[in-house]
Amino acid sequence: MAGAVKIGIIGGTGLENPEILHNAVDKDVDTPFGKPSDLLKIGEISGVPCVLLSRHGRKHDKSPTTVNYRANLWALYQEGVTHILTTTACGSLREELPPGHLVFIDSAIDKTHRREGTFFDGLPGHPIGVCHIPMHPMFDIELRKILIATATELSIPHQKDGFAVCIEGPRFSTKAESNLYRSWGASLVNMTIFPEVQLAREMGIPYASTALVTDYDCWRESDDVEPEHVSVDLVMKTFAENAVKAMALFQGAIKKIAARDWTKHNTELKTVAKAAVMIPYG
Ligand code: ADE
Repeated sequence: MAGAVKIGIIGGTGLENPEILHNAVDKDVDTPFGKPSDLLKIGEISGVPCVLLSRHGRKHDKSPTTVNYRANLWALYQEGVTHILTTTACGSLREELPPGHLVFIDSAIDKTHRREGTFFDGLPGHPIGVCHIPMHPMFDIELRKILIATATELSIPHQKDGFAVCIEGPRFSTKAESNLYRSWGASLVNMTIFPEVQLAREMGIPYASTALVTDYDCWRESDDVEPEHVSVDLVMKTFAENAVKAMALFQGAIKKIAARDWTKHNTELKTVAKAAVMIPYG
């Protein structure tokens, strides 16, 4: 697949409409699952074909619950993307993970409960069967290695692994919840990892997420000054200050992705996805 790579990028909060693509054109698409969050932006990064989609819409008008994750993923699939990279704003649950850090999470706990999590829902016009997709490894190992190597080369502060808790939102966590997630050993808390990642796995498309720490959630305590707890302002401000890191990371990583032959790897992922589908008998 060397030379045949096309990268889908889902930009999270703070990356609604980045000027990262060259020769970019907007494309209005529809899918069997409805409209994606916004127009697709199709162009090139580092000379590699890319398709960019804003997860929450360019005006940030879709909440973590109302994002049409299935339409977003299907729209990228229809465009023929071979890989998906995403950014996601996260709260830190660890003192050693300050705002501005990137984390290449390797797993997550799903606390969402109001989202469509499969393409295989039995409805007319949707894929047939019941899909029991394996969720380990949850994020693509090879893509994660490339992202980590690129962050290291660019001296971007990062953590190579860790797991996140994905909450339903849109409210932030209570202090009790934040401390509960810390007691589980989680590094981060976020609102959008699920069901995006499982939908990418159902499609057999390699997917990796770059988590950008924007705040310390609300678990921190201090005897002197009250620590700054998570707020929309803080998330947006920290993301804006650090978005340049995510952009540089993607530019570097995409060059590396395009230089590889992914035929075997991507075929294996498709095989896992196909084997997960039980077709009704008779
Ligand atoms: N996204 C950014 N910061 C967050 C937090 N503290 N909790 C949930 N999602 C977030």
